Amino acid sequence: MKHFLSVEDADNVDTLLDQAAAYKLAPLKDAALGKGKRLGLLFLNPSLRTRLSTQVAASQLGMQAIVFDVGKEGWALELEDGVVMNGSSVEHIRDAAPVLGSYFDILAVRSFPSLQDAHQDYSEVLFQQLKAHSGVPLLSLESATLHPLQSLSDILTIREAWKENRRPKVVLTWAPHVKPLPQCVANSFAQWMIEWDAADFTITHPEGYALKDSFTQGAQIIYDQEQALHKADFVYVKNWSSYEAYGSTPEVPGDWMLTETKLRQTNQAKVMHCLPVRRNVELSDSVLNSASSLVTAQAANRVWAAQAVLANLLKSIAHKS
Ligand code: CP
Repeated sequence: MKHFLSVEDADNVDTLLDQAAAYKLAPLKDAALGKGKRLGLLFLNPSLRTRLSTQVAASQLGMQAIVFDVGKEGWALELEDGVVMNGSSVEHIRDAAPVLGSYFDILAVRSFPSLQDAHQDYSEVLFQQLKAHSGVPLLSLESATLHPLQSLSDILTIREAWKENRRPKVVLTWAPHVKPLPQCVANSFAQWMIEWDAADFTITHPEGYALKDSFTQGAQIIYDQEQALHKADFVYVKNWSSYEAYGSTPEVPGDWMLTETKLRQTNQAKVMHCLPVRRNVELSDSVLNSASSLVTAQAANRVWAAQAVLANLLKSIAHKS
């Protein structure tokens, strides 16, 4: 594994899940693997789970993790090539990237989309520039379009919770929110579920909220939430803004919040959300507080997902040197 930006960087999803599960059983089994190696964690946006779980994972591999809140403390970065830098940006990413690569053995980055310009957001220029110019492996802590560590943890959680000898039905359902959110968690979950191919996967959302089809090809898409939830074994709840009318939040008829009443249509489904969640907007208190909720397990599994990925990146560095 040279980088970890999407499911395409995983040779095999089940192998990566097995590695994560092995770290959960024995967190310190590779405590010397990252000895003398430094992980730079660059945050352009806030985080609780990603920031802390990745630091815990790095420490369990013997790595030193250094966090930099670029968004608050760094120079304003210019990402586009060939521009005359006579505006507000202070440092070009082409200059910053090799410097960061000289300080760190692995770079991990979180950068949310603007939700203003689909082409700009979906071109992931920050990640592409760092990949091209830092000279070290790059790990996504959530980009404009994808959140692969979250998806790996989500699928680990599904695999652990599923005890029956048949393919589970997994439903990703859109939920309401108070403000426009990125599509990245939903894009990423769809991409990983389709590649994993160990569950029957359905996406349900209101008209106007279709995800970019390159992420959802292979999924069943149903506009009627009630029909989609029928006999579901897992329900993943998430809001996202429109991709078609990029970043907008078209009006939605009906109530899409997941409630106990809606869960009665399912096969006693387990309920998932990546957190943070808006209680009683996306999901009702009664669902989140019930035994059906897997949200804490998902967040806890972030450590093992990050540890498996970091271990693979460390092995690729060792192999190169
Ligand atoms: N789910 C997730 O990425 O959480 P944070 O934004 O708190 O890192």
